[in-house]
Amino acid sequence: MPHPQIAPSILSFPADDYRSAVRELAAAGVDWIHLDVMDGQFVPPITFGADLAKALHQLVPTPIEAHLMTLTPALHFDAFIEAGCKRVIFHTEATDHAHLLCLQLRKRGILAGVAINPGTPVETLYPMLDVMDLALVMTVNPGWGGQSLITECLDKVSKLREWRPDLEIEVDGGIDADSIAMAQAAGANVFVSGSYLTRTPTIGYGVAQLKRACAG
Ligand code: DX5
Ligand code: ZN
Repeated sequence: MPHPQIAPSILSFPADDYRSAVRELAAAGVDWIHLDVMDGQFVPPITFGADLAKALHQLVPTPIEAHLMTLTPALHFDAFIEAGCKRVIFHTEATDHAHLLCLQLRKRGILAGVAINPGTPVETLYPMLDVMDLALVMTVNPGWGGQSLITECLDKVSKLREWRPDLEIEVDGGIDADSIAMAQAAGANVFVSGSYLTRTPTIGYGVAQLKRACAG
């Protein structure tokens, strides 16, 4: 199983000061910065686009990934790749061409991630096993931070781990210093965490707690 990685989301930090949060996350040694891109269509909220991704990418050396919660993922690939995203994750519910989109991302040297909602069966990802670099299993319904992890979604993680032992498997939603262990036990190795890091005394402290909890 690939080694654990912490990929905090900036979604729950104050939108007028994402820069401070990103600097603190980078200083805390996170593996990735996770950017939640919402278009007001695939999910009701609208967050931000590639301009912000670019500005944040220029701020710190930590790699950034785009989680596209958008109805038209392929339309946004160019902008987020040009903004510096090394991994682009799109939702399989948003396209009939998930396999092709993985190939398109890989062709451009970008890690291809495919996300599934809690209501989507894990079998949907089976045909992409050889063309995706990462599967993102949503452990809450997408759109909002601060929800509780839906434990049933972790069965999908176990199935994916069985299918492809070397796959990067990311869990997103309701991950804190307690639930991270459960997600890791199911087979996940990339952990998005958002609102938890706004509740800890400092971002650095929260990241250390997450790292400790999944260090084994
Ligand atoms: C939800 C987003 C998540 C979310 C995580 O649609 O994809 O990245 O912000 O936030 P928490 O950790 O608060 O569930
Ligand atoms: Zn996300």
